[in-house]
Amino acid sequence: MNTEELLAQASVIPVLEVVSLSDAAPLARALADGGLRVVELTLRTDCALEAVAEMKSAAPELIVGMGTLRQAEDAEKSAKAGAEFLVTPGATASLLKALADTGLPTLPGVATASEAMTAMEYGFNAQKFFPAELSGGVAWVKSIKGPLADIMWCPSGGIAEDKVAEYMALDNVACVGGSWIASRSAISGKDWAGITENARRAAAFNT
Ligand code: 3PG
Repeated sequence: MNTEELLAQASVIPVLEVVSLSDAAPLARALADGGLRVVELTLRTDCALEAVAEMKSAAPELIVGMGTLRQAEDAEKSAKAGAEFLVTPGATASLLKALADTGLPTLPGVATASEAMTAMEYGFNAQKFFPAELSGGVAWVKSIKGPLADIMWCPSGGIAEDKVAEYMALDNVACVGGSWIASRSAISGKDWAGITENARRAAAFNT
């Protein structure tokens, strides 16, 4: 799968913090049953790497990526764990190189034109705009289109459900990320029905 194929399946990407490995399978089912196809686990919990395989076996139709990669070794670890795409909050040179070396679709995180141009030098033409709402939101994405029209964006960070439509209406936005679909408390509270309902509303943005 290349980045274009990934983005064709992605609309709203739930950003997930899985604290207990036993939550990974029911969470995957809840999201897939709601109609979502692409999900992002985050490398913020001890069981995150193991959760990739758990989610894939419970819902093979899901594309499971790993986010919050901060160091070069995180890229290799995530690829080994079976992550199908990679996401980062920022973009250092060593991380960008390691991401490129995996050959996996990747959304490196940037918040300025210079960072975006650096990531482009490593071949990344789809990028995460983070933290989106604090860094300029919809207006930033509109404005960056002038000079950097060849980048497709996945804004993420502080995007509430009622803001999604505004971002998705922009033709340089491929998808948006958000934790509201399956918050940490909804996951630990095992609110699978509520998560499926949120996923269903998010999946309505699938094209
Ligand atoms: C993140 O990396 O935490 C994501 O961008 C999600 O942000 P959110 O929790 O503000 O939706």
